[in-house]
Amino acid sequence: MPTLGIIGSGNIGSAIAWLAVAADIDVAIANSRGPQSLTDLIEGLGPRATAGTVEEAGHAGETSVLSIPLTAYRDLPAGLLTGRTVLDTGNYHPYRDGRITELDSEEVTTAELEQQLLPGALLVKAFNNILAHHIPQLARPAGARDRSALPIAGNDPDAKARATELIGRLGFDAVDAGTLGESWRFEPEAGAYTRIYLADPDVPAERMLQAPAAPLPAEKLREALRTAQRVKVVARTF
Ligand SMILES: NC(=O)c1ccc[n+]([C@@H]2O[C@H](COP(=O)([O-])OP(=O)(O)OC[C@H]3O[C@@H](n4cnc5c(N)ncnc54)[C@H](OP(=O)(O)O)[C@@H]3O)[C@@H](O)[C@H]2O)c1
Repeated sequence: MPTLGIIGSGNIGSAIAWLAVAADIDVAIANSRGPQSLTDLIEGLGPRATAGTVEEAGHAGETSVLSIPLTAYRDLPAGLLTGRTVLDTGNYHPYRDGRITELDSEEVTTAELEQQLLPGALLVKAFNNILAHHIPQLARPAGARDRSALPIAGNDPDAKARATELIGRLGFDAVDAGTLGESWRFEPEAGAYTRIYLADPDVPAERMLQAPAAPLPAEKLREALRTAQRVKVVARTF
């Protein structure tokens, strides 16, 4: 597989980078501070990983992972991801991103807004509904009985097929949750969000980060997507 570009080297971006190198995929990683700030991460990841600029990571291969705060999308170089398949991990967090009228009014989903900010990119929403530290805990090789599933959403069927293949190599089954407009089903606080990967989904919020994960089979994820209720975004504070 060609090199996977990863823009954003934080909790999620680096978790995906670890899965990629374990799956023998070369990665080119970028962050906001520049390649020199990534020395320790690259050293840990080994010879399949290189640090680059945002432009280098964006152009590294046909498929990229974008894992940055929502407010940073506007800072990306114009046209950087045009024509490329982009696994987009972003979520809207009002406490971090400020209030965004189009999202609070549910005029668009977060993924639709991100698509507007990245015209021409083939956006596939993925890895946004799982806590970063659960990613390595739950990744399993293809065919493992305890493999977990992740939802994806996108408007381009070919991009979704590429995302499904990549996610499969990284250690998860992908479940098609529809278009970007339907991705509210696995946005924060919706039915197919992070709690579904907890061994005890009812654990109190203050203990959630320490609570152990448990495998989530594709059938259970489909059911969570099917029964999800649309969250009142304006009422969200986190
Ligand atoms: N953490 C989770 O468990 C989790 C779960 C699901 C979804 N998400 C979502 O996934 C996204 C990433 O989350 P995270 O927890 O990984 O965030 P994070 O740890 O704060 O990392 C964010 C990364 O984005 C980089 N960045 C910021 N602005 C940038 C820019 N203009 N150009 C290039 N890189 C830029 C940062 O660079 P520097 O390192 O140089 O600061 C950092 O590497 C967010 O939208 C978040 O809501 C997070």
